[in-house]
Amino acid sequence: MDFTNKTVLLTGGGTGIGFALAQLLVQRRNRVIIIGRRLDKLQEAQQLVPALQIFQCDVAQPEAIDALFATLHTQGIVLDALVNNAAVLEMWDILKQSIPSAEIFNRLSINLAGPICLTQCFIRQADLKRKNYIINVTTEAAIMPVPILPLYSASKTGLSVFTQSLRVQLKNQPFVVMEVMPPPVESRMTTQDLRNSGPLVLAANFAAGLLKKIEAGKLYYAPGANAWQLRLIRRLAPNVGLHLVDKLSRQQLHAV
Ligand SMILES: NC(=O)c1ccc[n+]([C@@H]2O[C@H](COP(=O)([O-])OP(=O)(O)OC[C@H]3O[C@@H](n4cnc5c(N)ncnc54)[C@H](OP(=O)(O)O)[C@@H]3O)[C@@H](O)[C@H]2O)c1
Repeated sequence: MDFTNKTVLLTGGGTGIGFALAQLLVQRRNRVIIIGRRLDKLQEAQQLVPALQIFQCDVAQPEAIDALFATLHTQGIVLDALVNNAAVLEMWDILKQSIPSAEIFNRLSINLAGPICLTQCFIRQADLKRKNYIINVTTEAAIMPVPILPLYSASKTGLSVFTQSLRVQLKNQPFVVMEVMPPPVESRMTTQDLRNSGPLVLAANFAAGLLKKIEAGKLYYAPGANAWQLRLIRRLAPNVGLHLVDKLSRQQLHAV
């Protein structure tokens, strides 16, 4: 089924995977509203794809989420799809570095509490006569944590668990609840935040694959080789696996 003529709210749609997906959705004649914290990034995206609608919103701020949905309601916009794509990531060795408590709360809110609040708002406004889509972007670190990314691994695992719970709660309702675990994809997150020196998939290619899976009605998309390997290791030797992931990821991410 073609994913077309729908209204989509896409968080973190100004850059990376989100922007690549936003572009494709617009090409498929969907109305796409992208949100993010930095207005200049949203405006740059809109210059490249003028059909995009932009809305500055920090998903870690409950009042910003409420204001977003109040604006959508006032403008008579009913969403068919929510893509919870926005996230932040950082390496954190707790023995070497302190992060202020407020910053810890903020990062966990961006990756977990924000998407949960957005999901609740989305469900409340949904037209139950139509099919609705909740697409949550998690990570392979939700299969097995990357110890040097503890906040990211913890919050994304939380989002993965929330997604699975939601799918069961909504099983008799007109909602498709999908979880997406990207492989390493070229974006600011991988090249700047992580300085990942491994092979990276282009965001446009990943987004094209994802759209095909959405159209095929899939509930889970984890195309990377790591995903099945991690699942196998988690089953066979979880503790050894965790230490191996720690060693390899520290090497790949140049973490001392
Ligand atoms: N790239 C990969 O290899 C990879 C692998 C696994 C999973 N993922 C997941 O894929 C998703 C997209 O990441 P990406 O690789 O495309 O990285 P990215 O380019 O850094 O995208 C992250 C986006 O999230 C937005 N964002 C961050 N905090 C926000 C907040 N508080 N409120 C609203 N928007 C916020 C950012 O915009 P502002 O900074 O302007 O707010 C940015 O547009 C993330 O969920 C990430 O965890 C990526």
